[in-house]
Amino acid sequence: MLPASDERKQIARLFNFLLMGEQLAHDCARRQSLIFEDTPSRRFLQAQARQEALHAKIFKAGIGILAPRGIGEPLAQTEMSQYRSLLESALDRGDKLESLLGMQILLEGMGDVALKRISSGFASRNLAFNRVRKLIVGQEDAHHNFGLRRFQQLIGSQASEWQGMRYQSELYLEVLNNMLHTLQPFFEFFDEHAEDYIDELQGMLPANMKLAVA
Ligand SMILES: [Fe+2]
Ligand SMILES: [Fe+2]
Repeated sequence: MLPASDERKQIARLFNFLLMGEQLAHDCARRQSLIFEDTPSRRFLQAQARQEALHAKIFKAGIGILAPRGIGEPLAQTEMSQYRSLLESALDRGDKLESLLGMQILLEGMGDVALKRISSGFASRNLAFNRVRKLIVGQEDAHHNFGLRRFQQLIGSQASEWQGMRYQSELYLEVLNNMLHTLQPFFEFFDEHAEDYIDELQGMLPANMKLAVA
């Protein structure tokens, strides 16, 4: 359990972790908008990139208010960099499927789970975060659902593609798992448990996608 006197700074550190995720989502969506050929996807991804930039600004502002003297050591920076490297290599290869899997389906699915669960922790601490949280959660839901829909359209029923994505998803999930375990002391602060997150993410995926992240 973290000391209560340090609460604002600890929340700021958690916001900083979310900020790193938003920055990665922004960079990824911007690059994805260049590799998708169809106009509706390109437009969606351009809009997503703008929304991620706004989310990043919101978390930055929150950090400035909560911890004006800085947050100390950033949380899970190494794991976030590893996740970024996986995604950037998929984008370098122009791999649309893998980019959707790594960003919209897994990372944003996890972000969605985290924002929804952590929000109850915030509500009980009476922080004025609820309106902003609702806006962000609504947009993150849309990004996640776009990823699921577009992934299923692109992959179709090709067994070899599914096999490849299953292998890739294990790489991404391993880093996500490490990330969540690094955050465990902070989850305890919010009465949360890292293990529940992967389970909940699995529960959000359609039956055939569970195969890809099994
Ligand atoms: Fe976002
Ligand atoms: Fe997003």
